[in-house]
Amino acid sequence: MPVTILAIESSCDDTSAAICQNGKMLSNCVANQSIHERYGGVVPELAGRAHLQNIVPVVEAALDQAHVTMKDLDAIAFTQSPGLIGSLLVGAQFAKSLALSLNIPLIAVQHMQAHVLANLIDDPKPEFPFLCLTVSGGHTQIVKCSHPSALEVIGETLDDAAGEAFDKSAKLLGLPYPGGPLIDKYAKQGNPLRFKFPEPQIPSYDFSFSGLKTSILYFLQEKTAANSNFIKDNLADICASIQHRIITILLNKFKKAAIETSITQLCIAGGVSANSGLRESFEVMGEKNGWSTFIPAFAYCTDNAGMIAITGYYKYLDGDFSDLNVTPSARSEW
Ligand code: KG4
Ligand code: ZN
Repeated sequence: MPVTILAIESSCDDTSAAICQNGKMLSNCVANQSIHERYGGVVPELAGRAHLQNIVPVVEAALDQAHVTMKDLDAIAFTQSPGLIGSLLVGAQFAKSLALSLNIPLIAVQHMQAHVLANLIDDPKPEFPFLCLTVSGGHTQIVKCSHPSALEVIGETLDDAAGEAFDKSAKLLGLPYPGGPLIDKYAKQGNPLRFKFPEPQIPSYDFSFSGLKTSILYFLQEKTAANSNFIKDNLADICASIQHRIITILLNKFKKAAIETSITQLCIAGGVSANSGLRESFEVMGEKNGWSTFIPAFAYCTDNAGMIAITGYYKYLDGDFSDLNVTPSARSEW
């Protein structure tokens, strides 16, 4: 009998539903919320309301695309933490109600673990143990994964996440939210070595991006005081130089972790792993050192229910189910 799981992800500003059968993804539907663009960031209150509007049509679309009906479902997985509490509550409440009405198990999934396990959706898959650099809008972590249920954070950001470093830099350049994809776009035409930004010297596997943000702010203040068109005239080189520094901060730490743990299977995950410069530099680093590198398909890098479904599938195999009185949590519970 196949194991069919419906997964729901609603931790931030995207409402997503996916169907996976025996670990194979049959559908992965995402409704984006464009409403936040005009505010320069996600407005939690609006995100919660939009999830309420989107969740039923998104779940229906996921079932339709997978050619699956409610009665084929064996379990409901949902994002339990971390995230915006109003957003998490919508997905959690929907998942609970459905599990209760269908009388099937409920599976609570941790969003950051799911980003890591997105690497187990498509072939080729990494062998265990592997290291994953998870880079999203809210988190930056290096995770050691010895088994789908054995994940250990060995390094993380002390302040801003990598995605925030992209988005806050973009904001300083006058670009709309989320600025990460735009920096990526302009960086393609720019010289990454034109402007030099500092690399923090932290001995552990931890990251820091707040110093970079401050140095970019002072750099732009000084340059625009001398030439008010500085940003417009040099946008591609500025974006390429900022992106280059964010990538070197990330990959130098990841390389150190790989060398010191002797783990040769390396993955990246999270929204920032959609960055073309990071993807390329990561693959070059793997080739140079004889390491195997893995990056999930684009649709499984940014927030998506597919990654919740694959994590839910492994939890299903372990019999790791949740009580119906489980509550979502804004903070990460690893
Ligand atoms: O994982 P994600 O979709 O949501 C969170 O859980 O945070 O990550 C969103 C982050 C945003 O900061 C966005 O700017 C960044 O991923 N991002 C990118 C790119 N695409 C998305 N950053 C740099 N280059 C990209 N191409
Ligand atoms: Zn995420």
